[in-house]
Amino acid sequence: MRRVYAVLAGLMLLAVVAQFYFAAVGAFDKPQEDSSFALHSVTGMMVIPVLSLLATVAAAVSRAPGRLIGLTILPLGLVVVQVLIIAVGGLLDDGAGNTTPGSLAILGLHAINGLAVMAVSGMVLRQARLFAKGSLTAAPGESARVR
Ligand code: HEM
Repeated sequence: MRRVYAVLAGLMLLAVVAQFYFAAVGAFDKPQEDSSFALHSVTGMMVIPVLSLLATVAAAVSRAPGRLIGLTILPLGLVVVQVLIIAVGGLLDDGAGNTTPGSLAILGLHAINGLAVMAVSGMVLRQARLFAKGSLTAAPGESARVR
């Protein structure tokens, strides 16, 4: 089960890398249409959340340290933040659907939070691999330590 967890963590990081790629695909698509960001939308709303959830279940079933289980569900939480950033940015538009300096200041955070999703997913993969190899331990009542 530890190997399954590591594989799921690897797939999650792969999906996050693809998500950046799909963001660029959407940005370069001409003319801009509703479908320009379709791949980005599906990966962000479905693929990454499902992989985060499955990896978390695999971490819990394989009795990973609690801190690592929490870290594994974090990408899902950060995707919720991604959607909230877009929602708040939308609230600050000019009323006709056009951006304003205020809405752009908020919307730009979507890219920064995307980097956080990438960083956390990378940390999860590294620790899931150590856990699969048996080199990650947690003393009772303590957070995990790398041996
Ligand atoms: C891990 C990284 C990322 C995640 C998880 C993510 C997630 C999401 C999600 C869930 C949506 C909403 C989709 C919908 O409403 O159907 C979205 C929309 C969007 N994202 Fe990202 N995103 C990430 C990175 C980026 C980056 C790096 C950029 C660009 C620099 C970007 C640009 C956009 C844009 C422009 C939209 C709006 C698309 C539209 O109008 O339909 N995203 N993203």
